[in-house]
Amino acid sequence: MSIVLVGGEKGGTGKTTLATNMAALLALEGKDVLLIDTDRQGTASFWAAVREEAEVEPRIASVQKFGKGLAGQVQDLANRYDEVIIDAGGRDSMELRYALGVCDRAYVPVQPFQFDIWTIRQMDELVSMAKGFNPKLQASIVLNRVSTNPVVREDKETREFFAGEGFEHLSIMEPILHERISFRKSARDGLSVTEWKQDKKASAEMNQFFREIYCG
Ligand SMILES: Nc1ncnc2c1ncn2[C@@H]1O[C@H](COP(=O)(O)OP(=O)(O)O)[C@@H](O)[C@H]1O
Ligand SMILES: [Mg+2]
Repeated sequence: MSIVLVGGEKGGTGKTTLATNMAALLALEGKDVLLIDTDRQGTASFWAAVREEAEVEPRIASVQKFGKGLAGQVQDLANRYDEVIIDAGGRDSMELRYALGVCDRAYVPVQPFQFDIWTIRQMDELVSMAKGFNPKLQASIVLNRVSTNPVVREDKETREFFAGEGFEHLSIMEPILHERISFRKSARDGLSVTEWKQDKKASAEMNQFFREIYCG
């Protein structure tokens, strides 16, 4: 059992995309997974509701949780499921801090062209604080929406820049996700990109990322 957080202080980086795809891949492996949406925008819950409405199998349980009680509630819920995934909204929210306090691993999606050193430094500090009372916490950056144009070399450039900054509590993951329309299209139907079955490359990338998180 693990509690995995997808979080970060910036909006639109792909937190909900990662959280929902991972939830679906876990469910496809037969795991009883709970998707906890702590973002008041409710995008992950909306995805789960669309999925439920369309009666997509496997079913994925999802709840919305906000505010103070979050940490205790997550721990309580974690005992009842095989795996828990938390989608924490963009902003330095109370929910993000509480979730960092209870999760085993945290993943912070970052877009190369929006690479915002200031928010990543803040994230590094938040992780540092959280580790004070949650020493098992491991946090990593995930490069998402990387250009598929090989000339752009965003992946390499971002890694070099990241290495130069020397963050203490954040490592950068090897698997990356490229900008692919299918991530958007599959989400509209309450599906993961793998279940959508129309983009083998996107599916392979998501699977690689998933394996690194859950089998790595
Ligand atoms: N790798 C990707 N390729 C294409 N579109 C993506 C990718 N990742 C996310 N998106 C799209 O970008 C938008 C923001 O993503 P989302 O996961 O909702 O971000 P967040 O939860 O961090 O605000 C959504 O429309 C989503 O479908
Ligand atoms: Mg979101």
